[in-house]
Amino acid sequence: MELLLIQSQEHNKLPLAELNAVLETEEMDVEIEKVHPGIVLLKNIAENVFDDYYRILVRRLAYTHEVHHLISKISYGDMEEGVESINWSSFIDDNFAVRVKRIDSDIDTVATERKIGSIILSNTDGISVNLSNPKSFIRVIANENDLYLCYGKYQLNKKYFEEMKPHKRPFFHPGCMSPKLARCMVNLSRIREGDLVLDPFCGTGGILMEAGIIGARLVGCDIDWRMKKGTATNLDYIGITDYKTHVVDIRELEMYELADAVVTDPPYGISTTTSGEGTSGIFKSFLISIKHNMKDDALLVMASPDSIDIDSILDEVGFVLHERYAIRMHRSLTRIISVIAKKE
Ligand SMILES: C[S@@+](CC[C@H](N)C(=O)[O-])C[C@H]1O[C@@H](n2cnc3c(N)ncnc32)[C@H](O)[C@@H]1O
Repeated sequence: MELLLIQSQEHNKLPLAELNAVLETEEMDVEIEKVHPGIVLLKNIAENVFDDYYRILVRRLAYTHEVHHLISKISYGDMEEGVESINWSSFIDDNFAVRVKRIDSDIDTVATERKIGSIILSNTDGISVNLSNPKSFIRVIANENDLYLCYGKYQLNKKYFEEMKPHKRPFFHPGCMSPKLARCMVNLSRIREGDLVLDPFCGTGGILMEAGIIGARLVGCDIDWRMKKGTATNLDYIGITDYKTHVVDIRELEMYELADAVVTDPPYGISTTTSGEGTSGIFKSFLISIKHNMKDDALLVMASPDSIDIDSILDEVGFVLHERYAIRMHRSLTRIISVIAKKE
C-alpha cells in the first residue's frame, strides 16, 4: 500500500529530512520516492501497519501539509475508465468531496473535480456530494500527464501551528522559535514517546511544548526564573503534565537522569541574554556541560547563528556532526540547525 505526502516547500531540505528522521525513529519499513518537488510517495507499506504509519505521520510531521492513502495513479487521458475501475464504496462513507491540486498541470481544476465526482456518483450507490463538510475526502494530484487519486482518512491539524504561534501563548518573550521549526528539530532528535528530552535554554518553552505533544518526558532549564515559570505556564496551557523546570546556569547543570535527546536554541545575544559570556563563549560552555548530561547514544539538535563556527568547538569537546541545515531568517540572520552526536 502507498501513502502520498504533500510537503511544504518553504525549505529545500528540511521537509524530507524531517520525514526521514520520523521514518527512522518509528522504524517504518517503506520505500521513499520523490515524484515531484513537494510530492513524496511512501511505497510497499504492509497492510497490517498501514493505518498505524498513517496516524504517526499525521501526528508528528511539521513540514508536511497533507498525508493521503494513494488509491491509484491513472493517466489523464484514461480518467473515465481509471476512476470507474475503483471500488469507491470502500472509501466513501455517506458523502464526499473531490479536490484537485495541480502540480505542473494546466487542467481546469473545477471541471476535473466535477467530472471525477460525477463518475464516482454514477458508479456508487447510496452516496452524495457534500462540498462544505464532507465525511470522505478525495484528493487528486494532477501533474503534467497523470492523476494521483487519493483518499484522505486522517488530516494534519493545519490550524495547530497557527494557533500555537508564540504571541498567542499565555507567556511570551521575543526570540522564540516558530512551533513548526521547533517540532521539526524535535523530530530530527529521533525521540520516541516516553523519552526524556532536555532543553537547557528553555526560554518560553516552545521546543518542550512540541516534544511534549509527541509524548516525551520533559526537563527545561533556564538561568532566568521568569523563563522557567513561563515555560511551565505554556506547558500547562496545552495540557502537558510530565515535565520539570529548573532555574540553572547551563555551566552548572547536573541531570539525575541523563537525557535521551537535547533539543535547544541557545542565546545568540540578539534578543536573548548570554549571561555576560558572549555568544561564542556560551556555545563552548554549553557543549562541554551538555556532553555529560546526555546518554551516549543521545542526539543533540541545536540552532546557532551562521556567524559562529561551532565545528571546531564540536571536535574539541568530543562531538560529531550528523546533519546540518541552513534557514535564512532575514538579511542579518541565517539559522543553522545541527544534528550532533557524541564521538564514539
Ligand atoms: C533563544 S532563548 C530560547 C528560546 C526558546 N527556544 C523559546 O522558544 O522561547 C535562550 C534562553 O537562554 C537563557 N540563558 C542564557 N544564558 C544562559 C545560561 N548560561 N544558562 C541557562 N540559560 C541561559 C536565556 O534566559 C533565554 O531564555
